[in-house]
Amino acid sequence: MELTADEKEMLEGKQGNAVKKSMEILCALGEIYGAKRLIDVSSVQIAGVSYDNLGDAGLEYLSELAKDGRARVLTTLNPAGMDLEDWRKLGIPEDFAKKQLEVIDAFKKMGVIASCTCTPYFIGNLPRYSESVAWSESSAVCFANSVLGARTNREGGPSAIASALTGKTAEYGMHLDENRQAQVLVKVRAKLRAVPDFGALGYATGKKIGNKVPLFVGVKRASVEQLKSLCASIATYGGTALFHIKGVTPNRTRKPTEEVIITQNDVDDAKVALTDAGYDEPDIISVGCPHCSINEVRRIAELLDGKHVKEGKEFWICIARPIKQIAEQAGYAKTIEASGAKFACDTCMVVAPIKGRFKCLATDSAKSCFYARGKNAFKTKFGTLEECVAAAVTGEWKAKQAKQAKPAQPKKTETAAE
Ligand code: F3S
Repeated sequence: MELTADEKEMLEGKQGNAVKKSMEILCALGEIYGAKRLIDVSSVQIAGVSYDNLGDAGLEYLSELAKDGRARVLTTLNPAGMDLEDWRKLGIPEDFAKKQLEVIDAFKKMGVIASCTCTPYFIGNLPRYSESVAWSESSAVCFANSVLGARTNREGGPSAIASALTGKTAEYGMHLDENRQAQVLVKVRAKLRAVPDFGALGYATGKKIGNKVPLFVGVKRASVEQLKSLCASIATYGGTALFHIKGVTPNRTRKPTEEVIITQNDVDDAKVALTDAGYDEPDIISVGCPHCSINEVRRIAELLDGKHVKEGKEFWICIARPIKQIAEQAGYAKTIEASGAKFACDTCMVVAPIKGRFKCLATDSAKSCFYARGKNAFKTKFGTLEECVAAAVTGEWKAKQAKQAKPAQPKKTETAAE
């Protein structure tokens, strides 16, 4: 890779140890992926913030970098393992809290904003079209590439920190036009109404095409909440960092020759797959994966107005702290907290250390189902926001269960090359 004089100085350690280490990471990645040069990034989103994931080795690494490393561009953080202020309310153990706060302090020392949200685009980390950034957190990466039209690879925690401390990333992958072209035309022949329909679409598409870049046709409109749900789900179940929706998302793309069809049966089957049979009394209900928009909080307040969360149930609303502050100003927070539901600021039920505390999660997030099952060994119920609130209030899961589709007989016009 060709480096500028300034970049060579960074690599030689003339701008400090943290910068040197960061440049070594970026150059190694650049060599592996065949990048010709480094490019500037305008912002960074760092994932891997929970002490649950980092452990003492991670904390030590961050403390070392914090000795002389300082963020050179706007840098925000993904959720931590707890609400940084009200962690006791969420039942987080004291020794875990102490370590988690040390992690946050190390980031703050580096000039990183302790935003602790996976929806940085709701709180001011909002790159413009075609801008290069270095984000980690798969759903946010997919949102940046697909919905905002910015450009980012799916960074790991260390490479994102390296970009923060240098303002650079290696130019490969999603930063290059040729890798941003659609590879599969996905014809959607299903009715998509609510947020979980988009989560189910992401699941079904991810299972069919893996990490190829899809161009969806047949999705006429999508709200920001529906798009964030699709981003989280398709990145989780397929691994893609970018999709296009004709008439909805801003990137231009060539029309691919490979085609697949997503039918109503595919979407219904996805909902069935995300819901475990039995366990009709979920003990934790959690929404906000990715973190809630203010519009979702408004709807939750409407649904909870005058009601109470059933005794023995936990209802978590995972959210960025600034969005909660808007909810307080608007009066939504008062209504929600009066019901017994809890805001989980700065964290979520996936990165918080809650394994073993609950048996069954009810959620409107397809991504949550994946991690609840895999990381926390919970059973899952997947439904709409309304169904989740109803489960929190009544204590029972009474969502209309999508029926397992009969094996579809493909029509002649629907033969798809996969
Ligand atoms: Fe965000 Fe946690 Fe979901 S980090 S995307 S709420 S798993």
